Amino acid sequence: MGPSWLKDAVFYEIYPQSFQDSNDDGIGDLQGIVSRLDYVAELGCNALWINPCFDSPFMDAGYDVRDYKRVAPRYGTNEDLVRLFEEAHRRGIHVLLDLVPGHTSDQHPWFKESAKADPNKYSARYIWTDEALWGMEGRPYIAGMTERSGAYMLNFFASQPALNYGWLDPYRHWMSATDSPEALATIEAIKDVMRFWLDLGCDGFRVDMADSLVKNDDERKSGTCAIWRGIRAMMDAEYPEAALVSEWSNPDQALCQAGFHMDFYLDHQRNGYNTLLRDYETEGSDHSYFRCDAGGSIRRFLDDYLPKYERSRTSGYISFITCNHDTPRPARTLSPEELKLAYAFILTMPGVPFIYYGDEIGMRYLDLRTKEGGYQRTGSRSPMQWGHEENFGFSGAPSDQLYLPQDGADDAPSVEDQLDDPNSLLSEVRRLVALRHAYEDLQADAPFAVVNSDEDTAPFVYARGGLLLAINPSSQVKRLENDLLVGREIVHHIGNPTVGGDCLTMPGQSFAVLRVQPACD
Ligand code: NOJ
Repeated sequence: MGPSWLKDAVFYEIYPQSFQDSNDDGIGDLQGIVSRLDYVAELGCNALWINPCFDSPFMDAGYDVRDYKRVAPRYGTNEDLVRLFEEAHRRGIHVLLDLVPGHTSDQHPWFKESAKADPNKYSARYIWTDEALWGMEGRPYIAGMTERSGAYMLNFFASQPALNYGWLDPYRHWMSATDSPEALATIEAIKDVMRFWLDLGCDGFRVDMADSLVKNDDERKSGTCAIWRGIRAMMDAEYPEAALVSEWSNPDQALCQAGFHMDFYLDHQRNGYNTLLRDYETEGSDHSYFRCDAGGSIRRFLDDYLPKYERSRTSGYISFITCNHDTPRPARTLSPEELKLAYAFILTMPGVPFIYYGDEIGMRYLDLRTKEGGYQRTGSRSPMQWGHEENFGFSGAPSDQLYLPQDGADDAPSVEDQLDDPNSLLSEVRRLVALRHAYEDLQADAPFAVVNSDEDTAPFVYARGGLLLAINPSSQVKRLENDLLVGREIVHHIGNPTVGGDCLTMPGQSFAVLRVQPACD
């Protein structure tokens, strides 16, 4: 299952543009992150994922890398990043960087060389046709922009050419095989980038579009999985304490076949995770399980999640997220009370959870103009709201020069407002994270089982190791009679649940964690 520190890890995702500006230029930076590490530690998070902070023209917020080995000047220097690793480690916090292996920026020197007419070392680093091909199998290609005669394949936006890991089943002469020298050279180049940062002190990577390497891959993604197995073997041998989390959202492939330690459970329409927090695309109304008026059932979640969990639980961890930089913030439709229950669930499930910066205070999804290729994602990327100072303490720059506008509402949440309020969302998140650290049964690898999922009159009840957990997101009182409840006491609660004999009573919008009462001596 990889590094042992993952068992008790709770991650905090930082979008560096928007976390803390230390030099008043309106954009967040690495020194800013360092200055807020105590906040992260006090929240209880012991691991960070930092979105790409490498040199880039920022056509896709840094997912268009121009130099994998250089920190973007707007965030600081490589030395600043090393200092961040050191300061984080001093506080017991591990740091994952964002690895983008599927594509680079079209400004990357490899691509500039590759686009030259004269053959050179990088000619086959990307996927090039030898004709002005406009599209094939629905994949986008770009032609007419380079001196080289041919079109290049894109992996995402127009500025992100696909790196060449070969085709599983090449059927045109310009397609490389996965074991061709050029495909193997791409793998070595990415391993070199990984070693560079691991040697400087990072603790692993979140891997962007991890399933996108080999083209024409089969349904099982066997070509791409084989590459990751090789990379995992390299890590096991050289960096056994480093961790990899995949943007894949297919644990059968990512965990069981490719060898990732963790795989994100992403917000894909109608999957189990989507039914919990963001099921509002269907029929115009919100059916999310954690909406108290939605009348939802946990079964839609369980039907999707349980088979995935059962098949992958001995291989790696499914990572629940509150949100990420691509996903609407959960506060878009959930109230702070609903968020408390949603986070209680996310933070007590198996696997390794991730909290997206600002979700712990219920930062809102804002209606913002696209920035750096964000499109509708931009609304989840606004600068952190710390306190009552100018720009919520994010930056000393004039407000109109911030990376993105901030929440202008009178009741916009802030850390300062919530820190000393025991009823605030922030205080609840801190208690939940502390609870997770306090009980081994809540750690990533402790067993999970459903005790009751018939919610007509009873709450949803699940077991983690020897603990029982009950949740009632609806506004009605629910009760459960069950022998498993006898001799138990509530060790954590939201709302006012009570237990007596074999009966658990859960008022509307409540949560309870129950343990067997320790024997008195
Ligand atoms: C997934 C990243 O999360 C997203 O922000 C990015 O735009 C694409 N991959 C392309 O790299």
